Amino acid sequence: MDSTKVSNERLQQVLPDAIAALHRVIEKHRVTEKEWSAVLDFLTDVGRHDEFVLLSDVTKTSVLADAISHEGETDATPSDVEGPLYRENPPWREKPVKIYEEYEGIENGDVLFVHGRVTSADGTPVSDAVLDIWQTGPDGGYDVWDERQPDYNFRGKFGVDEDGSYEFQTMVPKPYTVPTDGPVGRLLEATGQHPWRPAHIHFKVEAEGHEPLVTQVFFPEDPYLDNDTIGAVKPALVRPLSKHENEEELTRRGLGAPFYTCEFDITLKPAMSAAQA
Ligand code: BEZ
Ligand code: FE
Repeated sequence: MDSTKVSNERLQQVLPDAIAALHRVIEKHRVTEKEWSAVLDFLTDVGRHDEFVLLSDVTKTSVLADAISHEGETDATPSDVEGPLYRENPPWREKPVKIYEEYEGIENGDVLFVHGRVTSADGTPVSDAVLDIWQTGPDGGYDVWDERQPDYNFRGKFGVDEDGSYEFQTMVPKPYTVPTDGPVGRLLEATGQHPWRPAHIHFKVEAEGHEPLVTQVFFPEDPYLDNDTIGAVKPALVRPLSKHENEEELTRRGLGAPFYTCEFDITLKPAMSAAQA
C-alpha cells in the first residue's frame, strides 16, 4: 500500500496508538539499543528483498486486516488475502480455458477442472465477470520459482458465460512453502514457525457494479489446513475434489488418466454506489 492512500486524518488517529504499543513492548521486554538496532537491520533487509507483504502474511497481520475489511459480509463469497505471488497482466485465456502449458515433470500431477457460477448477492448471474487465477503447479511451486515452467504458467484471466458459469482446466496444486531464502525465512527459522501453506488456488474476480473479490480455494484432507503458516484458511473456502475415472468421461475430455473436478460458486457483493442507487 502507498502511504499517500491513507488519509492524514487516519494516520493521526492510528499512528500514535501504534507507536505507543511498540513502546510498551520495548519497555515490557527491556529491549536494548543493540537489539533494537538488529530489528531495524532486519526491517531494512525485508525492504531490500521486497518481503514486506510476506512479513505481513506470516505474522498473520494480512489475515487480520482482511477480516476487519470484510466484517459482516455474509451475502458474498468470503474474501482471502492476496499474498505476494500475484503478477499483473496475466495472459487472457480463451475457451476452453486451460491455464497451463505442459512441461517436464508435470506428468506426475492430476488434471483438475474447476467450475461454478458467478452471481450477484440477489442470485442474478454476473455475465461480465472476469476471473484472474494464479496457483502453483503440481510440484515445484509458482512459475517464478520453477525454471521448468513457461512464464505465467498456472496463471490466467478469462470471462464467464452469459449465465455466469465458468470452467477452467488446471492441475491439482500441492502444499508448498512460502519463500524461505530471505530475511522472512530466517525469522521463521529463528522462531520455529514452519513455512508451509496448504494447497490452494487464488482467485481475483471483477465485474461492473460489484466489489472486486480476492479469495482462495482449499481442498479437504490437506495436512496444513489447520496449520497454514499465514492462517488464511476459511472453512467456507474448502471445496471437495471429485475423482473421475469413467472411460467415457476420460475420452470426452481427451485425457488418458483419471482427473478431478471442483465446484466453486462465487457470489459478488454489489458495489456501494450500485447498492445505494
Ligand atoms: C501465496 O499463497 O501465494 C502466499 C501467501 C503468503 C505468503 C507467501 C505466499
Ligand atoms: Fe499461493
